[in-house]
Amino acid sequence: MRKPAETSVPVAPAIAERWSPRAYDETAEITGAQLTALLEAARWAPSFGNTQPARYLVGRRGDPVFPRILATLNSGNQAWAFRASALLIGVMVTTNEKGEVPYTDYGLGLATENLVLQAVELGLIAHQMAGFSPDAVRAEFGLPDEAVARVAIAVGSPADPAVLDDPRRIERELAPRRRLPLAEFAFGDRWGSPAL
Ligand SMILES: Cc1cc2nc3c(=O)[nH]c(=O)nc-3n(C[C@H](O)[C@H](O)[C@H](O)COP(=O)(O)O)c2cc1C
Repeated sequence: MRKPAETSVPVAPAIAERWSPRAYDETAEITGAQLTALLEAARWAPSFGNTQPARYLVGRRGDPVFPRILATLNSGNQAWAFRASALLIGVMVTTNEKGEVPYTDYGLGLATENLVLQAVELGLIAHQMAGFSPDAVRAEFGLPDEAVARVAIAVGSPADPAVLDDPRRIERELAPRRRLPLAEFAFGDRWGSPAL
């Protein structure tokens, strides 16, 4: 299913086509080459002073890591994310040899959006989640103090929304996507006065 962004002028196709589906094909597998492309896209994101705070834990459905990541998700996310082809945890490294790294959240966000857009470019779907336990990730995967698990990411192939098997969840999957109008988003000579 497509839910393209409604834009006043065309934008890059991967940006227009990206959204956050929950209906995943539980038989679809992600190839090693696809997974590598996602991680390469993330690795080449910009970061403050090239400090590169982003790291990822990666599990593919069928491998031993996948269920360990799945178990750290909250129950609402587990209910659909178990069908994904891969589950990742985005981690930010908050210190380096110079001390506290600035803008680590920002850096992980940039890297993760690169990863998500690369997934769309490959015909895959991706969905970011805050609904997981960073403490469980730390304990399960032995993260050091300076590594903070910040986001979970499901990646896979789309399925019919009917796989969600619950009228409310199907309705949510089909609901239109909404954004602020451009006039409330970009300002010109004063805060609140539209730039365009
Ligand atoms: C940091 C972050 C955390 C999110 N956490 C969750 C989550 O735990 N569960 C979920 O179903 N969706 C989650 N989402 C998805 C958002 O709800 C979704 O991106 C937003 O509603 C906009 O919809 P769109 O991505 O389809 O454009 C999260 C997205 C982001 C960026």
